[in-house]
Amino acid sequence: MSDLDLPQRQATDALMLTGFWYRALPADRVHRNHLHKATLLEIPLVIGRDRIGHPFALRDACPHRGMPLHCGRFDGENLECGYHGWQFDVHDGQCQLIPSLTADQKLKVDRIYAGSYPCEEQDNFIWVYIPDPSPPGAGFTPPAEPADEAPQIEKFTNKYKLAYLQAEMPVSIDHGIIGLMDPAHGPFVHQAWWWRTQHSIHEKQKNFEPIPNGFRMSAHTPSSNSAPYKLLRLYADADSITTTIDFVLPNIRTETIRAGKYWFSSLTTVTPITRNQCRIDVVAAWNLFRWVPFVPDLLKYVFAKFVEQDRRTMELQAEGLKHNPHLMLIDDADRPAKWYFQLKAAHLEAKRTGTEMKHPMAGPVTLKWRS
Ligand code: FES
Ligand SMILES: [Fe+2]
Repeated sequence: MSDLDLPQRQATDALMLTGFWYRALPADRVHRNHLHKATLLEIPLVIGRDRIGHPFALRDACPHRGMPLHCGRFDGENLECGYHGWQFDVHDGQCQLIPSLTADQKLKVDRIYAGSYPCEEQDNFIWVYIPDPSPPGAGFTPPAEPADEAPQIEKFTNKYKLAYLQAEMPVSIDHGIIGLMDPAHGPFVHQAWWWRTQHSIHEKQKNFEPIPNGFRMSAHTPSSNSAPYKLLRLYADADSITTTIDFVLPNIRTETIRAGKYWFSSLTTVTPITRNQCRIDVVAAWNLFRWVPFVPDLLKYVFAKFVEQDRRTMELQAEGLKHNPHLMLIDDADRPAKWYFQLKAAHLEAKRTGTEMKHPMAGPVTLKWRS
């Protein structure tokens, strides 16, 4: 059999990091015995759930001649390509049957694989592990094993609520991420009478520290000039409210707010869909206001407003970026963005040389800016 798999392999580049878990689809959109299309890092995927509800992800291109597998037939266990009827196990992608083979033809069917990706369901999302690109002969490669499990939201009690929001942005993952960690846009993009106005801009100082694969804005008391935090202090009747914000490669921002026995946790990801398109998914868990009417809806409304403001801003930014302008990152407000690029570079360098990653931050750093 000749190897016609050229279009199956895609060169990786420094923009979209492989070897990590990525959020693919909200779990409630993926139904049993149905096939769904998704794209991650420019890789076309077909995602579904088997008969007992376990999710799976395959490359949406048959290893025979590239027919999209989502056009095939799925019986809850095997997926049959719509072109020549080859059948694949949906979990490991292994070929089960090639109908055109005669009894005396000895092709080893079980050596053929449709690309399959490790898949997990976590906090209402289907996560897919995107391994490093496989060596030539991808049609014969069994699935990769991820080093760890898909990321989870940190929770501090057994009972909690969970909600998610998502928005697509027409910019690269890099712009999506640095937009997310950028402290200086707040007063200009996220204005609202109940949150803050441009006039509330003031000097801030935050401590950061290196953590594996990322950095942390050390636990601090949130800025007192916003209404939701005032409300929270009143409700939790706690003198200390602390919030911790982490960023870790490739795309994860977690925020944890703790006030006495109450907590709010979110895990936000910016997922590369294509080189010029990303999607932001905010999933939040909390045990606050569980019994207070309207508050969860209000929280969701506030978050949705924020995300929409960011989405709209990036949509406009994409207009300007079309012309390839020269860009700059300034201190201190853009320092987290600089760390992000340095972390990425250090990660790629460590991978290239097979050595341990050299963290770009030598130790704790205090940053100052006005916002
Ligand atoms: S292209 Fe899928 S079976 Fe031929
Ligand atoms: Fe924002």
